[in-house]
Amino acid sequence: MSEQQLKEQIISGGNIPRHVAIIMDGNGRWAQERGKPRVFGHQHGMHAVRAVVEGCRDVGCEALTLYAFSEENWKRPAAEIKVLMRLLRHYIERERNNLRENDIRLQCLGRMEKVAPAAREAMEEAMEYTSSCSSMVLNLAISYGSRAEIVDAVRALGREIATGKLDPGDIGEEQIAEKLYTDGLPDPDLLIRTSGEMRISNFLLWQIAYTEFYITSVLWPDFRKADLYEAILDFQKRERRFGMVKSSV
Ligand code: IPE
Ligand code: IPE
Ligand code: MG
Repeated sequence: MSEQQLKEQIISGGNIPRHVAIIMDGNGRWAQERGKPRVFGHQHGMHAVRAVVEGCRDVGCEALTLYAFSEENWKRPAAEIKVLMRLLRHYIERERNNLRENDIRLQCLGRMEKVAPAAREAMEEAMEYTSSCSSMVLNLAISYGSRAEIVDAVRALGREIATGKLDPGDIGEEQIAEKLYTDGLPDPDLLIRTSGEMRISNFLLWQIAYTEFYITSVLWPDFRKADLYEAILDFQKRERRFGMVKSSV
């Protein structure tokens, strides 16, 4: 099926995932297969980023969250980190106008204070530049760790308790969710991981309680709109029960 046909099938199927999250994995292996350094894979991964942003926007998703750099990725060699940060900055500087033209708001999730100032400033500037856009939110998870996010949320709640603003008995799921970096976003409906790895790698642990998983062996630099559409079509065939029983039984 062509990309266009896949897109039409998704739209006619209704049930569009409101929020898609992607663990973009396999850049290093993609480069290795070509006898190139790992950063070559990161460079080519940018084509896939562009494709999924456009693809999600075209079928009407409200939010797309891309896992770009984990809290644990800081343990990688300094030279690789430097290239990743430079690529992020270039992506944002290049795509800023395109995002605004397509009415996409950029947001960053993670401990941004650890990010090099040049990359951080470019992101803050692009977030401001796209702040009034409302067709879709593009979340870049950078310096992101889900456990760190939960730690930050617990600290914020603790501060409110210490100042008497909050009673511990009033803490419910909603109060916790409000303190996460994803406050205001629906939980992901669909989580895609490329490169065949069957793990979560500290991504959105709280938010994926009832998310549908889709794992593909495609390496991230090869991932294109058609691959995204296949994942969404697969999602549309699933029956989500949220702990209940099938409506027909
Ligand atoms: C994903 O590709 C990109 C980041 C984690 C930043 P990897 O760099 O993890 O590629 P593999 O998993 O080693 O192939
Ligand atoms: C997860 O990929 C993080 C990102 C995609 C940014 P990793 O390649 O870092 O995950 P592990 O180490 O294989 O679990
Ligand atoms: Mg990896």
